[in-house]
Amino acid sequence: MKIGLLIHSFSGNTLSVGTRLKVHLEVQGHRVHMDQIIDANEDPKSNRPVLLTHIPDLNDYDVIIFGAPVRAFSLSPVMTAYLKQISDIENIKFFAYVTEGLPKPWMGGNRAIKKMKTFLGMKNASILDTAVINWSSRKKETQIDSMLNRFSNRIGSL
Ligand SMILES: Cc1cc2nc3c(=O)[nH]c(=O)nc-3n(C[C@H](O)[C@H](O)[C@H](O)COP(=O)(O)O)c2cc1C
Repeated sequence: MKIGLLIHSFSGNTLSVGTRLKVHLEVQGHRVHMDQIIDANEDPKSNRPVLLTHIPDLNDYDVIIFGAPVRAFSLSPVMTAYLKQISDIENIKFFAYVTEGLPKPWMGGNRAIKKMKTFLGMKNASILDTAVINWSSRKKETQIDSMLNRFSNRIGSL
C-alpha cells in the first residue's frame, strides 16, 4: 500500500506534523511519500491569486493524507485551489488534518476540515478520519499523538 502525504505549509508547522506522521507510518512498515503543494505566490499577506507550480498526482497512491494550515478561519487558499482542480479519483482512501494558530478547533479548524470533506464529496470520495492540531494549545502534543495513533491504526486495518 502506497501512502501519499500531500502537504501545504508556509511556516513549517503542518510540514513538521507531516514528517512525524511519515516516520510513524514507516516504522510500521508502510511506504510513505511526502510531497508539497506549492504556490508561486506563497506569501500569505500577498493578494495575488494562487498559482500552483507543483501539483502532486493523486492517483499515484492508495491512501492519501492531506495536511494544510487554517487561514482566515477556513482552509488555506493553496489547498483549496489544489482540491478544486482534482479531476478523477480512483479507489483512494483519504485522511486529513489541519494546523491552526488559535487554541480551539472551532476557530477555523473545523471549517477547514469541512471544506476538504465537501471538495472530496463532490468527487464521490470520503475522508476516513480527520484531526485539528491547535498550535497554541497545551494539548498540542496530545492532539498530534492521538492523530498518529488513530490514522496509523485505521490505515493498518485497510
Ligand atoms: C494569513 C494567515 C491567516 C491565519 N488565519 C488563522 C485563523 O483564522 N485561525 C487560526 O487558528 N490560525 C490562523 N493562522 C495561523 C496558522 O493557521 C497556523 O500558524 C498554522 O499552523 C500555520 O501552518 P504552517 O506553518 O504549516 O503554514 C493564520 C496564519 C496566517 C499566516
